[in-house]
This record gives sequence, structure tokens and C-alpha cells, in this order.
Amino acid sequence: MDAPSASSVSGNQAQAREEVPRDQVSASGQKQGIEQIEHSFKMLHTSKIDLMQIHSLKDWQTHAATLRDMKEHKRFRYIGITHSQTSAHAELEEVMRAEKWDWVQLNYSIQTRNAEERSCRSRRSSHRGDGQPAVRGWRDLQARRGQALPAWAENIGCTSWGQFFLKYVVSHPAVTCVIPATRVRAPRDNLQAGRGVIPEQNWREEMVRYFEAHAS
Ligand SMILES: NC(=O)c1ccc[n+]([C@@H]2O[C@H](COP(=O)([O-])OP(=O)(O)OC[C@H]3O[C@@H](n4cnc5c(N)ncnc54)[C@H](OP(=O)(O)O)[C@@H]3O)[C@@H](O)[C@H]2O)c1
Repeated sequence: MDAPSASSVSGNQAQAREEVPRDQVSASGQKQGIEQIEHSFKMLHTSKIDLMQIHSLKDWQTHAATLRDMKEHKRFRYIGITHSQTSAHAELEEVMRAEKWDWVQLNYSIQTRNAEERSCRSRRSSHRGDGQPAVRGWRDLQARRGQALPAWAENIGCTSWGQFFLKYVVSHPAVTCVIPATRVRAPRDNLQAGRGVIPEQNWREEMVRYFEAHAS
């Protein structure tokens, strides 16, 4: 696939965004949703997309029917829903119970742990086969730059704050995928968080205690 050119991005941001294929449907209305999805197929030069999600629960009942139909026709391998705000977790939980989703993407971090009480728990109790929550969010990381890690961090295989934050997320039993946003310098650091020791519950509790005692 050809990437959008720099000139198309800088020339007109709104138009450029529309030119980029999405792995999410965010339009309102069935027709608009289908058009947006078909546009992504066209731009990706493919007849099959692995995962298509409904962005921030936007018009989710309408798009759920579209995504189910396209999945039945083997155009998607998986379908899912997303939200990135804690205030939406109650609704997200209802939607998780109302429909069968393969993926649920939500905000979860050592700083923002609401999903432990709601969405991750309901994910585990819903017994829906291939469900795979994904997670985002750890902005507090920026404030840790320059601070030393606790001495015990080596017991859970962390040599950086990036790994400390990610290991907390990765080690939740309901989490199967983490999507930290990063530019060029951090991917190697972030990959290390998936290696070696994964903290068990007692270490997770210690991580939270330390985090809260040293909150920035
Ligand atoms: N409704 C939705 O579906 C929705 C909404 C919002 C976001 N998202 C998705 O959620 C994911 C996360 O996005 P986010 O905006 O919440 O970002 P984030 O992952 O919470 O944080 C990104 C920040 O963390 C820094 N960072 C990453 N790895 C680091 C490391 N090892 N050490 C130090 N700093 C590190 C990055 O800095 P550098 O850039 O300098 O590396 C960047 O400033 C993305 O995939 C995004 O597309 C989805």
C-alpha cells in the first residue's frame, strides 16, 4: 500500500485524515459506516481486514449489524468495540454484555485502573471464547522521567519506567494486547515489557502502592 504523501497530510489535515484507511468505523449511520469501511478496503488494496472495530461506541447498534454481516462473509476475521474514556466504561460494559465481540479496546493503566473493577471483570465472566481486550493510556509516564525506579523493580524485570507501566497492564489476566503509542525511540523499550518476569498479584499490588505513594 502507498502511504499518504507528506504534502497530502500537511496540505489539508481534514482531507488527509479521510484519505487514511482505518481499522475502525466512526461514522454515523449505516450507509456512511459501510462507505467508510469500503473506503478502507479500497485504500488497503485488500478484500479482508483482520480486525474492524467501532470507534468509541459511535452508533454501535447500527454498525454491529454491518460488522457481523461482513464477518460472516469473511471480510473481517475479528470485530470489536473501543472507548478511551473512563466515563464511558459503564456503557462499554453494557455493550460487552449485549453483543458477542472478539476484541474490546479500552483505556487502562496503573494510573487509570477503573477497568479492573468493571470492563476487565465482565470480560472474564462473560466466557465469550476469543475475547481479547486491548489497552491504552499511561500519560503519567512522562512525569517519571529522571526519577529512579524502586530497587525491587529488578525482581519484576523492569529496567525503565516504560517497562514498569507496561508490565502492570500486561500482567492483568484479562489483558491480551497492549497498544502504547510511541514514536521511534520507545518500541524496543516497550517490547522488553513483554519479556521475562510478568508480575503476579502481590507484585501488582506493590506496584500500585509505590505508584500512589510517589504520585507526581
Ligand atoms: N477510541 C479509541 O479507539 C482511541 C482513542 C484514543 C487513543 N486510541 C489508541 O490508544 C493507543 C494509545 O494512545 P494514547 O494517545 O493513549 O497514548 P499513550 O500510549 O497513553 O501514551 C503515549 C505517550 O507515551 C510515550 N511513551 C510510549 N512508550 C514510552 C516509553 N517506553 N518510554 C517513555 N515514553 C513512552 C510516548 O512518547 P514518544 O512518542 O516520545 O515515544 C507518548 O508521549 C493508540 O494506539 C491510539 O490509537 C484509541
